[in-house]
Amino acid sequence: MAATFALYRYSMLQNDLLLQAARGEQVKRPPVWLMRQAGRILPEYRAIRDRLKDFKELVTTPHLAAEVTLQPVELLGVDAAIIFSDILVIPEAMGLPYEMVEKRGPWLATPIRSEQDLQKIHLANVDSDLAYVAEAIRLAKRELRQRVPLIGFAGAPFTIFAYMTEGSGSKTFSKAKQVLYQQPALAHQLLQMITASTIAYLKMQIAAGVDIVQIFDSWAGILSPTQYRVFSLPYLAQICDAITEVPLILFAKGAFFALEDFAQLPCQVIGLDWTIDPQTARRQTHYAKTLQGNLDPCALYADFDTIRKETRQMIAAFGPQRYIANLGHGVYPDTPPDHVRCFIDTVKNWA
Ligand code: CP3
Repeated sequence: MAATFALYRYSMLQNDLLLQAARGEQVKRPPVWLMRQAGRILPEYRAIRDRLKDFKELVTTPHLAAEVTLQPVELLGVDAAIIFSDILVIPEAMGLPYEMVEKRGPWLATPIRSEQDLQKIHLANVDSDLAYVAEAIRLAKRELRQRVPLIGFAGAPFTIFAYMTEGSGSKTFSKAKQVLYQQPALAHQLLQMITASTIAYLKMQIAAGVDIVQIFDSWAGILSPTQYRVFSLPYLAQICDAITEVPLILFAKGAFFALEDFAQLPCQVIGLDWTIDPQTARRQTHYAKTLQGNLDPCALYADFDTIRKETRQMIAAFGPQRYIANLGHGVYPDTPPDHVRCFIDTVKNWA
C-alpha cells in the first residue's frame, strides 16, 4: 500500500532523477542541486530580499518564499527545488524566537541553560505556528508544475540544540557543549522535545507536498565520536524511523567518524562534506546508501575548466549511480552564478 502510494506521488514528476537516485534506482545521469541554492548568489533573490524589512519577512510570507524557491530551478536549471525557509523556525515554534542579524547571523535572546529556562518552552504546534511553511510548500508545488521534486528540510536535533543553548552562531559552540558536560539530563530533555517537534514538522511538510526531506546536522563536527553517539545519533534514529513516507537525506557536516553508524540507519541518502574522499565514504557505508556531495564550495571560485575537471573527477570517483551531485556544504554567497551554472551543466552533460 505504502509503495503504491509512493509510486503515485512520484510518477507525476517530469524530472524525478533525484527521487530515482535516492531510491537506488538506475539513472541516466546523476541529479544535481546545491545546498543554499535559493539565496544570495542570485541577484533575483537579492532584489526581492532588499524590498523587505528582513530575512524573516521573506521566510514567513508564503508567496515570496515560494517565488525564491523556484528561482534556482528557473535560473540555474537544478534537478530539485528546496523550500525556502530556515532551520531556526523550530526553536521559534517551541517558544524561543530568533533574529537574523545582518552580517552576523542568528541571534536567540534567551538561550536555554537551566531547568527553569526549559519550563518556558514547549513542543512546537506545527499546524498553527508553522502554517506559513505548509502554505509556502503548497504554493511552490503548484508553481513547480511537476517539473522537479521539492525538498523539505529541518535541522538535526543536535544542531537545533546548539543554537538554542548557545543563543547564536559560534566557532566552538562552547556554551552549548558546556550543557552537554554539566547537565546531560537537561540536554536529553531538550533534545527529545526538539526531536518530537521536528518529526511533527517534517510530517506536516510531507502532507503539504514535499517529495523528499533533508536533515541538516550542520554542527555535528564539533562533537567527539563518543558524544555524537550519545547526543546526536539516537535522535537522528528516531527521525529516520518516523519518516517512512518519503526518502530522507541525512547531511552531517564534519561527521566522517559516524559514517558506519549512518549506514545502519533507515535513511536512503547520506550527504557528505568535502573532507572525505568518495571511495572511503562508499566503503564505510558498505555500498548500501545513495551518497550526496561533496565538492568544496570554494572550488566554484576556480575557472570554468577547473570546475569541469573537479566535477567530473568527483562523479567518476563516486560513480554515477546511487549518487546525487552537490557541494559539500551550502554555496557561498559571493560565488558567481555563471560558475554555479558551469558546475550544474557539467553534471547534466555526464554521459
Ligand atoms: O536554498 C536553500 O538551501 C534553502 C534555504 C535555506 C536557508 N537556510 C536560507 C537562509 C536552508 C536550507 C537553510 C538551512 C540552515 N539555516 C542551516 C543548515 C544548512 C547549513 O548551512 O549548514 C543553518 C545552520 C541555518 C542557520 C542560519 N540561517 C545561519 C547560520 C544563517 C546566517 C548565515 C548567513 O549565511 O548569513 C542563516 C540565514 C539564512 N538562511 C540566509 C538564507 C538565504 C541568509 C540571510 C539573508 O538572505 O538575509
